[in-house]
Amino acid sequence: MSQIITLSEFIMQRQKDFPYATGELTSLLNDISIASKIVNRDVNRAGLVDILGAKGEKNIQGEDQQKLDVIADEAFINAFLSGGEVCGIASEENDDFVAFDNEQSKNGKYVVLFDPLDGSSNIDVNVSIGTIFSIYRRKSPVGGLATKEDMLQKGTEQVAAGYVIFGSSTMLVYSTGKGVNGFTLDPSIGEFCLSHPNIKMPETGRMYSMNEGNLDRCDPGLKDYVQYCREDDPATKRPYSGRYIGSLVADFHRNLLKGGIYIYPTTDNWKEGRLRLLYECNPLAFIAEQAGGLATDGHQRILEIEPKELHQRCGYFVGSKQMVEKAMSCLKDKVEA
Ligand code: AHG
Ligand code: MN
Ligand code: MN
Repeated sequence: MSQIITLSEFIMQRQKDFPYATGELTSLLNDISIASKIVNRDVNRAGLVDILGAKGEKNIQGEDQQKLDVIADEAFINAFLSGGEVCGIASEENDDFVAFDNEQSKNGKYVVLFDPLDGSSNIDVNVSIGTIFSIYRRKSPVGGLATKEDMLQKGTEQVAAGYVIFGSSTMLVYSTGKGVNGFTLDPSIGEFCLSHPNIKMPETGRMYSMNEGNLDRCDPGLKDYVQYCREDDPATKRPYSGRYIGSLVADFHRNLLKGGIYIYPTTDNWKEGRLRLLYECNPLAFIAEQAGGLATDGHQRILEIEPKELHQRCGYFVGSKQMVEKAMSCLKDKVEA
């Protein structure tokens, strides 16, 4: 039998790669792994214990909060509070950022921005969902409360990012800026085990993922790109297959492994885009780039966007390098035409 490497062992082995090797980032990644296992347990038994469905409240963005959204939010916050490496968090489910007001957390050097449950409209129908996270070093002085400035950092400043996918198996995929590695949860031992070392996103693929119901409300250049995807050309393996799960994490994960492009553009009804820069687009852009892919808003590199608000949205094109480049050139050609 080949040797199993657990996530904790792997994180320890890689600790020397971090620019500030004090062990705190190592502990923080372990907190995330523990919270992920707790959420995994709740996701798996959701139908059995009456935690499916809407909570009856809306979050700041006017979206129905699902019960599991809130359970996941609390699981991660509790893990960060007990770990003590994090001085504050921002999440999709909290109107404002949360500064942890206890001595240990105030000495924490990191902040985490996260989407506790992504794709939550898919919970009730048993389709893959996920958690997305992004880790930064704080800007404010250690010992005090976290500030908004700690949260509003450009994606290039991320020290680590990743996601958990609750699919036919549960996986945790993360990067600390030295490549991307994936771990599959072995439920029999309760450990994430290294299953996908050094993930590279294929330079091109044959799947495109977008909500085509919005196509008539999109930039005309994007219609050209979708037309390109649908055209016959055996040399470039077109027509591509359309694949849209409606859980960003799941669509991204498939494209990361198989090659493909995910698009959620600005539209007439989502003028700023639908997805959130800080806890959806940036972390997955970091993973995409680390795996050799690209992420843009159609014009600009996602990781270089200067954030102004916690729940800021943006257009999103992420995936295989050649496919994102082609989509961008269609947008540009239309502007220039
Ligand atoms: P969330 O469940 O965290 O609000 O995110 C949902 C996002 C994303 O996961 C998905 O790709 C997209 O919204 C789906 O939007 P449409 O239903 O508009 O296609
Ligand atoms: Mn989401
Ligand atoms: Mn969410």
